[in-house]
Amino acid sequence: MRKKTTIPHILKMKQNGQRITVLTAYDYPFARLVDNGGVDIILVGDSAGVVVAGHDTTLPVTMDEMLYHVRSVKRSAPKALLVADMPFMSYQTSIEDACRNCGRMIKEGGAEAVKVEGGSNIAHVIRAVSSIDIPVMAHIGLTPQSIHRMGGYKVQGRADQAERIMDDAFAVQHAGAFAVVLEGIPATLAAEISAELTIPTIGIGAGPYCDGQVLVIHDILGLCEKYSPKFVKRYADIAPLIISAVEQYVAEVRNGEFPAEEHSFS
Ligand code: KIV
Repeated sequence: MRKKTTIPHILKMKQNGQRITVLTAYDYPFARLVDNGGVDIILVGDSAGVVVAGHDTTLPVTMDEMLYHVRSVKRSAPKALLVADMPFMSYQTSIEDACRNCGRMIKEGGAEAVKVEGGSNIAHVIRAVSSIDIPVMAHIGLTPQSIHRMGGYKVQGRADQAERIMDDAFAVQHAGAFAVVLEGIPATLAAEISAELTIPTIGIGAGPYCDGQVLVIHDILGLCEKYSPKFVKRYADIAPLIISAVEQYVAEVRNGEFPAEEHSFS
């Protein structure tokens, strides 16, 4: 039987050169499916704000919304490690806010780790939260909560920015992060960071040389029709299946074919 994935297991995977698989999930049914598919880590991403709630950015997502998603995923009792994304303004304002809100994800949500965006600028938060035994996954490079500073979702770490991203990677590792997401950076830079760090790197739009990969479940299933970034690979196209099922239902209710006798009580 598959064992529960833990932080030491994830660290060992890097040491053994085993690639780490991560997908997002936001609710009970998808968490069950994703876990049954065998991923190592389920990330309850604040991307929920975009792919579930329909916002243009992740900025409006609240602690209460994230707690709702994390609890829903937790009820699926995943074997995968459960990581909760911290929403914008839940950890940037003070160490006290960060510890309290990260603690809520563990205590009230049932998460086993949290993720925060930022490098050197947020290292003090990573240090404080890790010091109270809440494992922290860092997230550097293209950090969606910094959309206004970046002026859009743009690749980071090209040319003169590369050194800053490398410094961020060392800063989060030094602060105690157990892993770091590298988003939207050149593959060569991600390869260099992955070779230098002792903690696992999890890439998204960061090429093939990271220690693991993460994608948004709605993107790989073709559920997000609005926009599909270059780094996404679509493994299924389920939107047309859903539309066709709905069309069939609508037609059958209208023509009296559904419900039939077998769907009715005597
Ligand atoms: O919010 C999210 O889903 C994420 C991943 C895409 C890394 O941060």
